Amino acid sequence: MVLTGGGDCPGLNAVIRGIVKRASQEKDWEVIGCIESFNGVLREPTEIVELDEKSVHGLLVMGGTILGTTNKGGPFEWPVRQPDGSWTTVDRSDEMIRKLQYLGVDAVINIGGDGSQRISLGLAQKGLNIVGVPKTIDNDLSSTDYTFGFQTAVQICTEAIDKLVTTAASHNRVFIMEVMGRDAGWIALHSAIAGGADVCLIPEIPYDIQEVKKKIEQRYNKRHGFCIIVVAEGAKPKGGSIVGTKSDEVGYQHVRLGGIGNQLAAELKAAGVEQDIRCTILGHLQRGGTPIAFDRILASEFGVRAMELVMEGKFGRMVAYRHPEIVDVSLEEAVRAQNLVDPKGQLVHTAKGLGIEFGQG
Ligand code: F6P
Repeated sequence: MVLTGGGDCPGLNAVIRGIVKRASQEKDWEVIGCIESFNGVLREPTEIVELDEKSVHGLLVMGGTILGTTNKGGPFEWPVRQPDGSWTTVDRSDEMIRKLQYLGVDAVINIGGDGSQRISLGLAQKGLNIVGVPKTIDNDLSSTDYTFGFQTAVQICTEAIDKLVTTAASHNRVFIMEVMGRDAGWIALHSAIAGGADVCLIPEIPYDIQEVKKKIEQRYNKRHGFCIIVVAEGAKPKGGSIVGTKSDEVGYQHVRLGGIGNQLAAELKAAGVEQDIRCTILGHLQRGGTPIAFDRILASEFGVRAMELVMEGKFGRMVAYRHPEIVDVSLEEAVRAQNLVDPKGQLVHTAKGLGIEFGQG
């Protein structure tokens, strides 16, 4: 049984296709899909679909996930409404494992990010035959060089910078572009380099607003010039905190990040920046649409290898990319640490070599 959990990202469907195509080469395996992460098994009636070669036609290029997904709740924290109208959560994992046995499911492939793979680990520890596939545009899983979806998000952000440059130059404006990534600055850093941005602000390097202002001034000759600032949604000023709101959506456990772009514009104005400033928030555009070739290939590799792990009976593992190999790691290792930008690492070094300012001076 295959399912997709957490936020969607380009390439999920390509993984599903890879799994189904590999399985169809064997006589003994049938693939089914569970709708909306594990919810399809937990709901009554169950929501499960058959997946054969015909049902995966055209999936390689299709964004989103045909199985649907959710980043709320899950088998360990199923939301239940109390008589007084408030919500609590209950652990339905044992009940779900019994139901999977009853349905005759031999193994589960869970395609998801860190939250989903923590669920995979919990279920593996209870004896479920499960294999993980890492996905997220944030690229914040440390056991794989890349997660699929990330490069597509970087491509989308880079194209957005290319577009902002022409309007910024025409109006002599400062443009701030806010990108996703949660606690990791990977999308911001990669797209800032690829798009030729002047400033890149990431969560791993808290910024000094005076240093950002100084860089803007360098970019102008009297009133002529423009400046492109890429800011990661998790970035924060030195001594400050991240900008986000606690969601009131039932079962949603994350802080919803967003708003640093406009805050930065206000900080720059307060610091005395005279130029016009505009802020563009790319938001979920970064997760939409067709995966680029790199992500189609990586997703296909993950799908094929995940199915092979199932056929080999290697459970409690997650597929991972360690250039140039597709390997597998334990689920414990998969969720152990976040993959964050190293402020002293090669890519930051390269960016600084290109004159990109991180707000450090
Ligand atoms: O983890 C992927 C991601 O797109 C983050 O970059 C972002 O902060 C978050 O998900 C947005 O979540 P949602 O789709 O629930 O608004």
